[in-house]
Amino acid sequence: MKKRVFIIVLDSLGAGEMPDAPLFGDFDCHTLKRISASPEFRFDSMKKMGMGNIDGQDFLPREDKPLAAVCRLAERSMGKDTTIGHWEISGVVSPAPMPTYPQGFPKEIIDEFVKQTGREILCNMPYSGTEVIKDYGEEHIKTGKLIVYTSADSVFQIAAHEEYVPLEELYGYCRTARKILCGKHAVGRVIARPFVGTPGNFTRTANRHDFSLEPPKKTLLDTLKEAGKTVYAVGKINDIFAGCGVTEKVYTHGNTEGLKISLEALDRDFEGLCFINLVDFDMLYGHRQDINGYARAFAEFDAWLPKFTEKMRDGDILFITADHGCDPGDSHTDHTREYTPLLVYGKGIAPVNLGTRAGFCDIAATAAEYLGISYRGDGSSFLREIAAPTAEETALCAAALASHERAYAPYSKFKVGAALLTADGKIYSGCNIENASLTPTVCAERTALFKAVSEGAREFRMLAVCSGENEPDAAFPPCGVCRQALSEFCGSDMPVLILKNAREFRRTTLGELLPQSFTAEYMR
Ligand code: THU
Repeated sequence: MKKRVFIIVLDSLGAGEMPDAPLFGDFDCHTLKRISASPEFRFDSMKKMGMGNIDGQDFLPREDKPLAAVCRLAERSMGKDTTIGHWEISGVVSPAPMPTYPQGFPKEIIDEFVKQTGREILCNMPYSGTEVIKDYGEEHIKTGKLIVYTSADSVFQIAAHEEYVPLEELYGYCRTARKILCGKHAVGRVIARPFVGTPGNFTRTANRHDFSLEPPKKTLLDTLKEAGKTVYAVGKINDIFAGCGVTEKVYTHGNTEGLKISLEALDRDFEGLCFINLVDFDMLYGHRQDINGYARAFAEFDAWLPKFTEKMRDGDILFITADHGCDPGDSHTDHTREYTPLLVYGKGIAPVNLGTRAGFCDIAATAAEYLGISYRGDGSSFLREIAAPTAEETALCAAALASHERAYAPYSKFKVGAALLTADGKIYSGCNIENASLTPTVCAERTALFKAVSEGAREFRMLAVCSGENEPDAAFPPCGVCRQALSEFCGSDMPVLILKNAREFRRTTLGELLPQSFTAEYMR
């Protein structure tokens, strides 16, 4: 079975403010909540997925039988921009935000740029892109000086008239700037902003070009590419990663086209990752504070989603998430420091609610584990928590539950069942057996283990343990004595299933339950 991961980033769809939002100048922001109040908001397929079950989304209807595993992700990086958000999704946490220049670029940067390009500069302030050519275009033509400006984002922009500074020359100046802007001045993007026309009638051309910063460390994309897998970048993903780790790419003109290409991607034969960014939410509606437009774009996605999930193959997993917030109804037009939603859907995924997790980077760790590549990035995989039960696991849990019914626990009234799977596929189950003098009491796990060993079994593949069915928080791990007894025969990587109720269990391993157990090795 070919394994494919699809990550769809709903650009800026935050799921509520993070505790540190005030540090980023954000108060009372919640992108999803804001747009959910719009009459244009539609919430049908995302409701079925379980989006309303995510922590902090109690304004949305809940779903009793969700289709997807869900959680809320905190951003570990100290930033709230697109690049940092996507890098974290792919396994790189940024300890500091990218630099911005509300007062313009410092002298040492400009001096170096002038020295290396041989051209003086104009402006050097945050400026609107259309205003800057209106105000400086004529002087630029007369003097040959380049128009350098920035914005609220981490960008170094160079505007030049195409007839006076040929495109290739402008791109060359951008490459020079890109090399100068490193270390603490590593801005997210250097952007070429060519324009044409005459004074009073200048217009920007489509020859804009972005020179992005390369990720500071290897991302999931690089690791996949090195492992010979496909990394298909849809929308602005290729630019966000400065092309690093991308094996195929396609740019889009907005969400509608992005959705169409995503559907088509399902027909492509590949193993690896298809990474999609839907930019309209942020670019057209978040920054422009258009709540209804944002809600409409969400409704379009919501209506489209079933078309995608229906076409998914057995080995496909879909992650739907965001890269930061951009509450269209808060006091400013910038991004907002928010949690993001995460929905994970696929044939092999159990619809578990994972609560709130510590970083976007857990997506990369999980995707890497699923695709079977070694991963050294930030974050930890939650694949084990969301993988649907195998037939073996289901059978073992059923045996533990049946044994639980036979428990002899008249003193504690605490009935326990356990089941052990041997290397050759046999199941031995056991229950706890209590005694009036209490100390001879034996736990369920040891009953199962001793039954098995006395029948000749010596190697085991898995253990399941359960206590009262449907008792709240009934799940408990084996006691210390049982852990030690098990470690005599079972490896530290042996999976242990701890049943919460008849349908759900949590996976752990014997080694996690009892690290550094006492074994025969120490007796040599
Ligand atoms: N018990 C088990 O069967 N397994 C464990 O791992 C912990 C405890 C039983 C022993 C006793 O009959 C009852 O639970 C209360 O301690």
